Amino acid sequence: MLIDTFGRVHNNLRISVTDRCNLRCTYCMPEDVTFLDRAELLSFEEMATVVRVAVGQGINKVRLTGGEPLLRRDLPKLVEQLVTIEGLIDIGLTTNAVLLAQQAQALKDAGLTRLNISLDTLDEDRFEQLTRRKALGPVLEGIAEAQRVGFTNIKINAVAIRGMIEHDAAPLAHYCRDRGIELRFIEYMPIGAEEWERNKLFAAHEILELLESQVAPLRPASNFDPNAPATEFEYLDGRGTVGIIASVTRPFCTKCNRLRLTAEGKLRNCLFSLNEIDIKPLLRRQPMEEELIVAALQDCVRSKWEGHEINSAKFIKPLRTMHSIGG
Ligand code: 5AD
Ligand code: SF4
Repeated sequence: MLIDTFGRVHNNLRISVTDRCNLRCTYCMPEDVTFLDRAELLSFEEMATVVRVAVGQGINKVRLTGGEPLLRRDLPKLVEQLVTIEGLIDIGLTTNAVLLAQQAQALKDAGLTRLNISLDTLDEDRFEQLTRRKALGPVLEGIAEAQRVGFTNIKINAVAIRGMIEHDAAPLAHYCRDRGIELRFIEYMPIGAEEWERNKLFAAHEILELLESQVAPLRPASNFDPNAPATEFEYLDGRGTVGIIASVTRPFCTKCNRLRLTAEGKLRNCLFSLNEIDIKPLLRRQPMEEELIVAALQDCVRSKWEGHEINSAKFIKPLRTMHSIGG
């Protein structure tokens, strides 16, 4: 098993399949970015090898992220390779949904089980302000198509930034309630391209107050899982649930079970970690030695810190921004 020095068992691997993105969310990346050369990216076969080895060490959930994962050509082919790995019980995808309408059916057919869609506003102008692109229409078509082809486990993730979310929370909540989609709010974290200011953080309790006053009263969800990063609430009127990921005000670090693999093959034990282990040379060695990958996974987990320290003076913002780590 992959157990760190604080006793946390790791069963969850997040793989960034590309650092490219077709949006430029201001909280995530600058307008001008230099992306990795295609040759630097791991191949699908290399990713599948990492997953196979990691499953042998107790990983049973994988999530594909980016950048924007749907920009990686033939992504359903990777899903097809992953579903054949015995011991993997769950394959999820985090996407901005701009290209989802074209790919939803193929992803569903390939065996993708979960879909998380990043969407912060339903207002065209604010969408453009936040993402620096005009793409709300395709995103909404993508969500509709995903539901049409039978994805039932869809979640929409919205980053809560003061000055924006006050306008967007209620429309998003209604949209999700009408469609049986779970809405989750993520507290704004100091990981993006722009200067993070604590006063832009819109905290979990403020989100709840906003929803209760503008949408409907809430109560803690009955099937609440204390190990999940999101705290779940349900509307008293029975029409849906809301999740809050209070990464800053109530960090879930003590329960963290995640490891990350960047698009160019660096293992990371935390979004905020300052170190990473390059496993691409190990994957490209001829012949490949599986024990070296196992050792890298073990080392990565063993060097994990207790938590992210965002709330302490010790906090150091990592050099990588979200699009190059994988959300
Ligand atoms: N704080 C919180 N969430 C963020 N994301 C990107 N940058 C930040 C940030 N600074 C989110 C995206 C997406 C997920 C991959 O990470 O909106 O939902
Ligand atoms: Fe792209 Fe996601 Fe970053 Fe937005 S948050 S620019 S959609 S990677």
